[in-house]
Amino acid sequence: AEPARKAMPSALTFDRHAKCSTTKARASTLKLPHGDVPLPIFMPVATQAALKGLTYDQLRDTGCMLCLNNTYHLGLKPGQEVLDAVGGAHKLQGWDRNLLTDSGGFQMVSLLKLAKVTEEGVRFLSPHDGSPMLLTPEHSISLQNSIGSDIIMQLDDVIATTSPDHARIKEAMERSVRWLDRCIDEHKYPERQNLFCIIQGGLDLELRKQCCEEMVARDTPGIAIGGLSGGEAKEEFCKVVDTCTDILPEHKPRYVMGVGYPEDIIVAVALGADMFDCVWPTRTARFGDAIVSSGTLKLRNRQFADDFSPIEEGCTCTCCRSKEEGGLGVTRAFIYHITAKETVGAHLLTIHNVHYLLNLMKNVRQAIMEDRYPALIRQFFSNIYQGDK
Ligand code: GUN
Ligand code: ZN
Repeated sequence: AEPARKAMPSALTFDRHAKCSTTKARASTLKLPHGDVPLPIFMPVATQAALKGLTYDQLRDTGCMLCLNNTYHLGLKPGQEVLDAVGGAHKLQGWDRNLLTDSGGFQMVSLLKLAKVTEEGVRFLSPHDGSPMLLTPEHSISLQNSIGSDIIMQLDDVIATTSPDHARIKEAMERSVRWLDRCIDEHKYPERQNLFCIIQGGLDLELRKQCCEEMVARDTPGIAIGGLSGGEAKEEFCKVVDTCTDILPEHKPRYVMGVGYPEDIIVAVALGADMFDCVWPTRTARFGDAIVSSGTLKLRNRQFADDFSPIEEGCTCTCCRSKEEGGLGVTRAFIYHITAKETVGAHLLTIHNVHYLLNLMKNVRQAIMEDRYPALIRQFFSNIYQGDK
């Protein structure tokens, strides 16, 4: 390991309020420059500087305190000059709560088949005009400095966990550590933007341990566990998270990237993770799918054509609440009939799905505070299994 550097300034405080007595779950508050964030938290993804289907007012109404933007998309459009001119992504979007940006490399590798990783950075062809481009750790951090997000992510070398190429997985882990050092050197505003490292190492627990040790020694304000959103077996997923959280310091936030199925979040929280993000809840809404406590309802199915109940009985989102309670009183039948032709169905389901995830996390946090998280886990899975019948 590199000799420990001088402590990096941090633009956050992490206050842990409670720890579950039988699992590794924690309840805390993450204080960021644009407000306090209760943890554990789910962070919705607003890729193109907007949550597809929601205005920022509607996103604020769901109680969201922290959402994601993407460096890669913002760097292309509006681009760094415009971001500098307007004073960053908060101003550009009119969003006064917290933003987290992913570094961009993962999106390029997963979106663009032609992306190629070298020690310098990620090479790819511009989706606009096909010209060759290079995203280096320095460029990613410089863009994120212009974006002004409250949490910025290091550029990492991400390999699918299902890759059989062990040498490549090891190289990617070691390169991610070297790239973290380059990101730390480039970062201009550590007193107002928090740089998180990203643990890599595939499903190899030894590699994961080594990576944790190297990265913890760099002392970033927060720590992410990467490379886990790619269809690995649940047992492998759990082993990786469990191995990492055993090593990571107790007093820093832990973010499991790209994880957003409620059942995976519930389990990862029990293993000591605090933060999650995923496009799934918003994307699935655009396909007419509602997330409810019994699982997922496919509201485009005929069976909902005359179902005049709310999307979920008792849900307090703007969409499900009755007119008398100040909501919209939307029914399953309405969504069924409207989604084929009108985008408003997708908007309404997006509100409901984001609310579902945020509300789930609220209940999770409350249960940890009252030291009854195992009972919540049992109830959660029992609801899902009943839904399967
Ligand atoms: N999103 C989901 N997984 C990852 C990852 O491993 N790295 C980055 N940068 N973003 C991700
Ligand atoms: Zn609802």
